[in-house]
Amino acid sequence: MSNESLANLLKEERRFAPPAELAASANVTADAYAQASEDRLAFWAEQARRLSWAVEPTETLDWSNPPFAKWFADGKLNVAYNCVDRHVEAGNGDRVAIHFEGEPGDSRAITYAQLKDEVSRAANALQELGVAKGDRVAVYLPMIPEAVVAMLACARIGAAHSVVFGGFSADAVASRIKDADAKVVITADGGYRRGKPSALKPAIDEALTKVDGVSSVLVVRRTGEEVAWTEGRDVWWHELVDGQSAEHTPEAHDAEQPLFILYTSGTTGKPKGILHTSGGYLTQASFTHNAVFDLKPETDVYWCTADIGWVTGHSYIVYGPLSNGATQVIYEGTPDTPHQGRMFEIVQKYGVTVLYTAPTLIRTWMKWGDSIPAQFDLTSLRVLGSVGEPINPEAWIWYREHIGANRTPIVDTWWQTETGAIMISPLPGVTETKPGSAQRALPGIAATVVDDEAREVPNGSGGYLVLTEPWPSMLRTIWGDDQRYVDTYWSRFEGRYFAGDGAKKDEDGDIWLLGRVDDVMLVSGHNISTTEVESALVGHPAVAESAVVGATDATTGQAIVAFVILRGTATDSAELIADLRNHVGRTLGPIAKPKQIKVVSELPKTRSGKIMRRLLRDIAEGREVGDTTTLADSSVMNLIQSQLPAAGTEG
Ligand code: WT7
Repeated sequence: MSNESLANLLKEERRFAPPAELAASANVTADAYAQASEDRLAFWAEQARRLSWAVEPTETLDWSNPPFAKWFADGKLNVAYNCVDRHVEAGNGDRVAIHFEGEPGDSRAITYAQLKDEVSRAANALQELGVAKGDRVAVYLPMIPEAVVAMLACARIGAAHSVVFGGFSADAVASRIKDADAKVVITADGGYRRGKPSALKPAIDEALTKVDGVSSVLVVRRTGEEVAWTEGRDVWWHELVDGQSAEHTPEAHDAEQPLFILYTSGTTGKPKGILHTSGGYLTQASFTHNAVFDLKPETDVYWCTADIGWVTGHSYIVYGPLSNGATQVIYEGTPDTPHQGRMFEIVQKYGVTVLYTAPTLIRTWMKWGDSIPAQFDLTSLRVLGSVGEPINPEAWIWYREHIGANRTPIVDTWWQTETGAIMISPLPGVTETKPGSAQRALPGIAATVVDDEAREVPNGSGGYLVLTEPWPSMLRTIWGDDQRYVDTYWSRFEGRYFAGDGAKKDEDGDIWLLGRVDDVMLVSGHNISTTEVESALVGHPAVAESAVVGATDATTGQAIVAFVILRGTATDSAELIADLRNHVGRTLGPIAKPKQIKVVSELPKTRSGKIMRRLLRDIAEGREVGDTTTLADSSVMNLIQSQLPAAGTEG
């Protein structure tokens, strides 16, 4: 076995310096790295002063009982006060907090003063329903402003929210309500998706036939569709909340007061309830949102396209932007309703300056074609962000050219539900960026790449990404299961947090994410990352998107099988397939040449846009396709199978 845990095949030479103007007025400069490396805890103590504390913390980190951290433990604050009231008190009550754009085209602007009133009313309403500090509230809502209000109302009274993505089934909701022992559920009649109302409440009604302990269901009216009603349990939001007082005193809570639980499905086993607390989480969400997006609250219009049901929505729609007094756009619907230019139209309409989205959407835009963004005025954009998956260099370049007019910096931000906030990313006014690399740990964060024996790998080598020091927004545990927390994250490498991702360090020591280690392929004794082969394929002008898996092979152990989606302009042919194989061989070396390449029109993805390689492995190995319940679109596997030649023929 070689020391090389993961091969380093891809070479990328393109470099982009930060725009001079941005660098000159950047919120965070290169000094921050020096400061943080001199005294990491002093650096975070200083960042905590971004927030308004009712009781200033004197302690920074308590790591006396690892891996159970406490940050700012003797401080007290109210998270909702930090996100809303203090901006109004500072004279910014008339600033728009949220430009809401509904899928049918309805829109609402909500100022910080209005948000304060609405959060206060909702907090009063929850208390009237018997919710108290320390309770849990499940939130199952579409992307509407009430989702933000509901979360902040919980934070205000010290109840933890557990947001469940609106696309999850009744069973998924039921198991999450049960695990967190939620007392109240906040939902809606439905939301708009793909041009029509999509019901939500029926899933709650069904879930509540399976779990006990929920005393009230607070229902937002969004679509006006008919809903079933359980008297004594169900309450309309507009009837209960609208009548409440807009005064609500934000009590100061301990820095370690639970703020939210968010379930990650992972690949196996029962979902893990990731627990985040208040002071440390808000410190890092606020700092990173300011630093990574260079957010200027007076002038920027920020838009994160994630759903509130994911951690990106928690940290970079709710807590980061609002703690910083940002003006942001929230969009309810799908990117191609009613047309494929919808997102660009929204950028143009609101003059969006900072856009934060996912590689899956960027590659979808590539597939739809360059002419669509070209029809809109995107000149307001000044910083572009990416999150959720490795971004292939070619998708990065496309994003820069076609969305960013070859001018805007791109920040490729690596983090996880568990890390709570961004950990590895360029800084837009500091870093000379490299397409496809998240580059280096932010100031105050310690990350590296190790081999099987936990030894740090030299520059130019691959291995496992680990975090070597605790950080303020780290998960505190898995809800109700401390042992699973220790086993899952802190046992693989002694004293280090193992993220589950493969990564490499390039010759400059910059970090490149290589996908989940469960997806790594073993070909003739070499560990090859799916990400690198996928990036090589997307580097061919005919390919918009690809997913690569290792299929059992008698000669090589595993053989590389690639599924590709072609760009609008390309067509499938034997010549193209041969050309693609050679292209990968030239880019990465002969070892990485796919044995088979299959052209398809869709790829199986989770609801958060991650490719489910496990299902493609089933196809590649000729097995019956496994559990598809977490797929965003359950018909995709049938579609893919119908597009493939019968088993036994070479693709
Ligand atoms: C996993 C975490 C972080 C919020 C959204 C996802 C992958 C995330 C990147 C990136 C390469 C990335 C990792 C990570 N990932 N960002 N910039 N480059 N990979 O949160 O659902 O908890 O997923 O997403 O594999 O471990 P999540």
